[in-house]
Amino acid sequence: MAVEQPVAVPDHPAAAGDATAVAHPNIALVKYWGKRDERLVLPWTDSLSLTLDVFPTTTRVRLAPGAAHDAVALDGVPLEGEPLRRVVAFLDLVRERAGLPLRAVVETRNTVPTGAGLASSASGFAALATAASAAYGLGLDATGLSRLARRGSGSASRSVFGGFALWHAGQPGHADPDLGSYAEPLTVPVRALDPALVVAVVDAGPKAVSSREAMRRTVDTSPLYRPWAASSQADLIGMRDALNRADLDAVGEIAERNALGMHATMLAARPAVRYLSAATLTVLDAVQELRGAGVAAYATMDAGPNVKVLCRGAEAERVAAAVRGAVGDGAVHLAGPGPGVRLLGPSPDADA
Ligand code: PMV
Repeated sequence: MAVEQPVAVPDHPAAAGDATAVAHPNIALVKYWGKRDERLVLPWTDSLSLTLDVFPTTTRVRLAPGAAHDAVALDGVPLEGEPLRRVVAFLDLVRERAGLPLRAVVETRNTVPTGAGLASSASGFAALATAASAAYGLGLDATGLSRLARRGSGSASRSVFGGFALWHAGQPGHADPDLGSYAEPLTVPVRALDPALVVAVVDAGPKAVSSREAMRRTVDTSPLYRPWAASSQADLIGMRDALNRADLDAVGEIAERNALGMHATMLAARPAVRYLSAATLTVLDAVQELRGAGVAAYATMDAGPNVKVLCRGAEAERVAAAVRGAVGDGAVHLAGPGPGVRLLGPSPDADA
């Protein structure tokens, strides 16, 4: 790909012209599922997540004066079609806000299997929002970055922050709905809670139905959607209380029922959306067996068949061993609480 060297932007002194950011995926313990506004990416419900310390995404954005198009590459491969359109639409939003029409060269390195329900879009758009905001000189604070990342992918609003984060749906009817919907970090007694997630990758391939399409279908056709959304608000209150008490069993119970409820809404959609596979259920059996043996282990699944098992850090190896026995050839990863998005220094080695 022909890359022009970035130049200083004299009439936009705040624009760095070249910026690189690193973000980590997050896993929701109270899920986001369903938009009330697709263009602004406004959800129907609040959600709550844990940012992980594995699978970072590194994204470099360089302004390209004279270029007619954006050039976007993921792991060295130029993006095309819908994935490219999504990134260009996001950059258009940044350009409009910055009043700076220049095209950009975007290079992303992902370490999470893309499109497998492992939240690569969360780390991806958190990193892109942060790097693009710096390159184009938007001068956003963390809340502003969270709002901006939300426009790329809802769950990305939470990856701006490390540890536990709460994404506010915002009030319908608000004068400026965009302003009311952002994530914020939560103060949680993390050491007492000692949370870990054992990630069971039962299938690293791309998903058959995008989360965007699956959400739309669920909201439009599932008779279970409204009841789940109502119970999810109650789950959020219970979850915050359980986190404050550092009660991992209560956190896990709420997370598991919230996730299973979300999948139930999809199974009742017309036509049904089913992300869970036979291998998912095998892991769920192993999780139930662990609980039978007195180990605190609770499962959560997103827009894919992979299972994330919440447990105590002190018991993570034991949980991982049990999960490994259940996944056959699938990979098992151990994760803990991770950091928020970070801008790298002015002369980063983006290929590192
Ligand atoms: O951010 P999106 O559009 O990829 O939505 C993903 C939603 C879930 O991962 C299924 C749940 C969540 O809250 O992260």
